[in-house]
Amino acid sequence: MLTIQEKLKSFPRLHNSLLPTPVHKLDYLSDEYGVNVYCKRDDLTGFGFGGNKTRKLDFLLPEAISLGCDTLIAIGANQSNFCRAAATYGVAGGMEVHLILGGKEPENPTGNLRLDHILGVACHHFDSTDWESWEREAEKLEKELTSQGKKVYRMPVGGSTSRGALGYVDAFSEIMVDQSRLGIQFDAIIHASSSAGIQAGLVVGQAVSDWRGNIIGVSVAKPQAIQEKDVLVLAQATATEIDARVDQSNIIAEDSYLGPGYAIRTPGCEEAVALFAQRLGIFLDYVYTGKAAAALTDYLRKGRFDNGANVLFIHTGGNIELFE
Ligand SMILES: Cc1ncc(COP(=O)(O)O)c(C=O)c1O
Repeated sequence: MLTIQEKLKSFPRLHNSLLPTPVHKLDYLSDEYGVNVYCKRDDLTGFGFGGNKTRKLDFLLPEAISLGCDTLIAIGANQSNFCRAAATYGVAGGMEVHLILGGKEPENPTGNLRLDHILGVACHHFDSTDWESWEREAEKLEKELTSQGKKVYRMPVGGSTSRGALGYVDAFSEIMVDQSRLGIQFDAIIHASSSAGIQAGLVVGQAVSDWRGNIIGVSVAKPQAIQEKDVLVLAQATATEIDARVDQSNIIAEDSYLGPGYAIRTPGCEEAVALFAQRLGIFLDYVYTGKAAAALTDYLRKGRFDNGANVLFIHTGGNIELFE
């Protein structure tokens, strides 16, 4: 069987923007619960304030360049981490960048939006929370820019295409290297899941390895059945890119920590954000990683991981939200 890196070799990459991220043991949680909890710091991927999106863009941007595109369109909410990351890559790559940003234009740009402004990209605010209507706006804009002679590369919400998800197939292979370096085997990987790109990539990575643990995607936007279906559809498409097959039984969406909905804070999330900051010196966010950490800490308290198990929490970034 080909290794993950052999399978990914034929895809153009940027490489120079990405560093392998550190993994460290979270002693406070490990000592308290008798489970070895590790954190992979994908908030520190090393370009444009980091986060999971840089791994996706490491595959998406080279595809745009190889197709001869000179203009990028990215879609997300006003405070989208993906849009900020896409804008950073696009501008640094000499492209014209347009962001379709869902939500009213704020009087005072903060957080990611402030960074979008510093980058000088075109921000098209569209006052709606409906993802599908954002996609329709982006299609309209693409037609307009194309009619002006631009060659446009349009990315969906979260950059979660099969090409983008390869970033987390690659991350999975990095995690296997992390395991060997640490001399352990992870029993579970737990992370925030929304537009499904991270989870789909990890599940495809698992499909081409002999790793037998559980990947737990903590759903922060959708109920379990919808999230699992979204992950499956994207994982199947991603698997096709590298001639692999996914096993549906490896897809686990945990929706018990979603609360009333996307970006709505829950007491468990607030508690987890405070605990990580105060006990571990790690800043999370309230939309994604805080809810994933709420799941992690609740699983630990309820004894849902075996005593002595090795659990990897992926910090997927997003903490610019703290500056909103
Ligand atoms: C910080 C952070 N974590 C996790 C996710 C979820 O990733 P995905 O949309 O690939 O499921 C996102 C998506 O925007 C994110 O910004």
